[in-house]
Amino acid sequence: MKNILHTSNIKSLKKIYQGKVRDVYEVDHDHLLIISTDRVSVFDIILPTPIPEKGIILNNVSNFWFKKFNNIINNHLSGFDVSKLKISDEEYNEIEGRFVIAKKLKPVPIESIVRNYLIGSGYSDYITTGKICGIDLPENLKMASKLPNLIFTPSSKAALGDHDVNISFEEMREIVGDQNSSLIKEVSLKIFDEASKILESKNIILADTKFEFGTSADGELTIMDEILTSDSSRFWLSDSYEEGISPVSLDKQFIRDYVKSISWNDTMPAPELPDYIVEKTFEKYKDLNRMLTG
Ligand SMILES: Nc1ncnc2c1ncn2[C@@H]1O[C@H](COP(=O)(O)OP(=O)(O)OP(=O)(O)O)[C@@H](O)[C@H]1O
Ligand SMILES: [Mg+2]
Repeated sequence: MKNILHTSNIKSLKKIYQGKVRDVYEVDHDHLLIISTDRVSVFDIILPTPIPEKGIILNNVSNFWFKKFNNIINNHLSGFDVSKLKISDEEYNEIEGRFVIAKKLKPVPIESIVRNYLIGSGYSDYITTGKICGIDLPENLKMASKLPNLIFTPSSKAALGDHDVNISFEEMREIVGDQNSSLIKEVSLKIFDEASKILESKNIILADTKFEFGTSADGELTIMDEILTSDSSRFWLSDSYEEGISPVSLDKQFIRDYVKSISWNDTMPAPELPDYIVEKTFEKYKDLNRMLTG
């Protein structure tokens, strides 16, 4: 039987935040219990239907990348002794395999997006303005075209229920400061580049991704939340890649396409997903996990 968790219910700890996907509890002054649930959102709206084990897969994939890039940037994994977690056995069983105990960080209030291909909101911006986040791009690019080089396209982090807004690097510097802006950009591009090479060897194209950063009590920049998962990234199968069409992917594009196909718009109640969409999405998330971590 598949393990499904839509919303966690840990009574022994205080829930301090419920995101679209993660439930966050306070462990102590310096630590958070972050549970990846099976909730799925499209266009920033949570759907009623969970994708079984998605949270476990996201947790596994993130931990794989966090450790891989440990030499580039500190990550939020804390090394807190799980046996010291003050929750019941029943509560532990509910979240096993889908949680981390993270350093409690002060979130940097921007999303750090890197793109190598033109798709999604970047493609929409390009069609209307010829640019993304103020960055000029060549004319005549198509949907899914490869960009001349990696671009860093930050967005401001919106409150739950709102959409993020693309901003220029100048605007980011005003929000985050010069030093952290430069560091975040440099680290994001480097991780993207290294991850692309790893994925390329597995016939996967990393089209774009989003990173989140926070600062520790002593001001150290740290990567947090999730990294290079099918929720935060677009992964395409190299073999079927073609310019001009939305490529076959190992991510949520399948769900985005489905909700568009039933003419759902985000002012209507979020639709239930049919079983075949749930199953197919589960397979895609699982495939990426298997390809990466064996
Ligand atoms: N180590 C950490 N310290 C402090 N906050 C964290 C840490 N790791 C993650 N977070 C925050 O916890 C929340 C996790 O919830 P979730 O991933 O569901 O995010 P969300 O903001 O609803 O959606 P999205 O990730 O799609 O923007 C996010 O607000 C994230 O910024
Ligand atoms: Mg998140």
